[in-house]
Amino acid sequence: MPQYIGSKLRKTEAILRNKSLRQFVPKTVRLNRLQLLRMLQQFKMVYVKPVSGTGGNGVMRVEKTAAGYHFQILTRKRSYKSLNAMYSAIQKETRGRGYLIQKGIHLLKYRGRRFDLRIMAQLNLRKRWETTGIIGRVAAPRKIVTNYHSGGTPTPVSRLLGSLSNKRKYNLTIQKLKNMGVTSGRAMKARFPGVCEVGVDVGLDSTLKPWILEVNTRPDPYIFRKLSDPSIFRKIRRYAKAYGRL
Ligand SMILES: Nc1ncnc2c1ncn2[C@@H]1O[C@H](COP(=O)(O)OP(=O)(O)OP(=O)(O)O)[C@@H](O)[C@H]1O
Ligand SMILES: [Mg+2]
Repeated sequence: MPQYIGSKLRKTEAILRNKSLRQFVPKTVRLNRLQLLRMLQQFKMVYVKPVSGTGGNGVMRVEKTAAGYHFQILTRKRSYKSLNAMYSAIQKETRGRGYLIQKGIHLLKYRGRRFDLRIMAQLNLRKRWETTGIIGRVAAPRKIVTNYHSGGTPTPVSRLLGSLSNKRKYNLTIQKLKNMGVTSGRAMKARFPGVCEVGVDVGLDSTLKPWILEVNTRPDPYIFRKLSDPSIFRKIRRYAKAYGRL
């Protein structure tokens, strides 16, 4: 079985060591009240997530506006007059478990729903990193996470991005994302030698800049079964079998 790294903070550190990836990593710090104050002053909107969470569980979207402080978990949105009042409410959710704060990305929307992308990169049969799949994930209405297990819908990238730019720009964007998968795989393996596959969660902002929201070291291969081209999942499975995952 390939190596699994649970801590999003340790994985972020590993990615930050790579000079070409650094620019795509949203600022990430451990959660405490002072850091929340600072991050909200700097970015106005942040995500608060369990350090070792999965499936979008426990993920919160936190905002500072002229009207006050707001946070949303699942589809429940609550407002507070002061940071202290909101922080007490957040602490009830975190219950002493490790959490982090990350700069929030205003994700692009498709038919009014937020979406992000999952890039699958794997060691191929020649032990070289290869991007084997890219798929979009569209959040359920009013949800702040796109995860399949939180009601997200796997969607072909061409449907999500095809209309946003011309064919040439689209192809260039896809090529960049594929390179990002390969570079992320290499960066993770440099720090954690047992890693053989990565699933990079990438958010796009309104300028189409890709942001690395997190790098999964045991990504779900089955989501790629939702694509109409069956050869994509077959290749993912072939590579995964070769390094002992499936
Ligand atoms: N900084 C952010 N800005 C905007 N959206 C975010 C941000 N961080 C996370 N999200 C949204 O929340 C979802 C879940 O976050 P993340 O992938 O970090 O945790 P997780 O899904 O619980 O972990 P895993 O992918 O290992 O199951 C993302 O796919 C994305 O839709
Ligand atoms: Mg994720």
